[in-house]
Amino acid sequence: MGNTHQGLVVWTAKPHGAQLHSALKSLLWLNSQARCEPISEHEVGFPCHQVSDLTGKQKQALASMFPHHYGHAVRLIIAQGASVNPHERLFRAVHVWMAERGIPFSKSHEAGLPQKWERLGDLVVINKASFSNDAWQKTLHSEVGHSSNLWERVARALGGERLAQQAHIMDNALRSPQLKLLHGAATWVEFLDHGVHFGFDAAQVMFSSGNITERHRIGSISMEGETVVDAYAGAGYYTLPMLVRSDAALVHACEMNPASIEALNWAARKNDVGSRLLIHPGDNQTTLPMLTGVADRCHLGLLPSSEGVWQHALACLKPTGGRLHVHMNVPKAEIESWKSQTLNRLSDLAKKIGRQWDIEAEHLERVKSYSPGVIHVVLDVKCTAASAA
Ligand SMILES: C[S@@+](CC[C@H](N)C(=O)[O-])C[C@H]1O[C@@H](n2cnc3c(N)ncnc32)[C@H](O)[C@@H]1O
Repeated sequence: MGNTHQGLVVWTAKPHGAQLHSALKSLLWLNSQARCEPISEHEVGFPCHQVSDLTGKQKQALASMFPHHYGHAVRLIIAQGASVNPHERLFRAVHVWMAERGIPFSKSHEAGLPQKWERLGDLVVINKASFSNDAWQKTLHSEVGHSSNLWERVARALGGERLAQQAHIMDNALRSPQLKLLHGAATWVEFLDHGVHFGFDAAQVMFSSGNITERHRIGSISMEGETVVDAYAGAGYYTLPMLVRSDAALVHACEMNPASIEALNWAARKNDVGSRLLIHPGDNQTTLPMLTGVADRCHLGLLPSSEGVWQHALACLKPTGGRLHVHMNVPKAEIESWKSQTLNRLSDLAKKIGRQWDIEAEHLERVKSYSPGVIHVVLDVKCTAASAA
């Protein structure tokens, strides 16, 4: 036995192993001195003398030696399996599952594989379009009773233990996710991000992994000694980084979804920040007015817009002023005009509640693309009382 093989390895589902072995041997490609690490109990790989991918002609030769249709049973991978990327692992896991059942793996099957997914702890969430085209509908229909085995392999290939499929975030105030568990027993997830523990029921609480850079940015702003109001606290996406990393003295967290409140309470204990967190359950149109004049900072993390509470948010700030973090979905071409309109609107609202403030933009963060041409932005706004300027 030689060292672990670094070159071309030809993989197939175990039931086809002997056939592939003799095909490679008769082509004189088999490198019997080399070995490769097994990747799963379902696959077998044979190191070859080739060091790079095969030419079309070589593939044809292999196809003619191999009694199964080339695309059905053989997958060509450069280097050992442990290092292959998740797309490659997914492709192989599905490919092997189908080969074991004698189902041809078509281009439509390949097109129906997930291109993107989210990892929430050990739960992998794939989108609605995955495994849903006609080819997959037919296959899953004919394999009823075996699909849980497929979902388990998909979850493992993508680095998780459980698998769920998302429909879409519902357009209600709670932004409830629609989630179908495909493999696993429960939808509660836990994970650690930048030193902050998060935990929530992924079927009941919306969590946008795409906001990770913004969570990190907010958590890197020092809020030492500050009282903060988080108007849309959710499961603590911003509340927790502000407590754990920004070192806020106190966060008032407004939240109306009982499942998010449960998550927030769990995370307060887990992160040991319960003594600096006050949760205000219910609609923030009712809870924010109870926080008038207390805050150094107010976080407004609702999409597409938090405009409905801007006046309450300004009123929450101390009479000497403070800061707002205003989230909004804005058409890319209109960001600059939106920014000046927002500052004007906030100035008008501040005057309306008797605050004589200078209101300026401190920073505009482009968080992520929300939809074609529309960007999720956050405007950091500073309000300074004329006398305190
Ligand atoms: C978009 S989610 C937060 C998502 C989070 N910012 C993220 O990055 O993943 C908004 C949260 O605000 C809460 N919410 C919406 N309208 C509310 C209201 N009027 N009063 C209190 N909470 C509200 C929802 O229940 C939800 O938890």
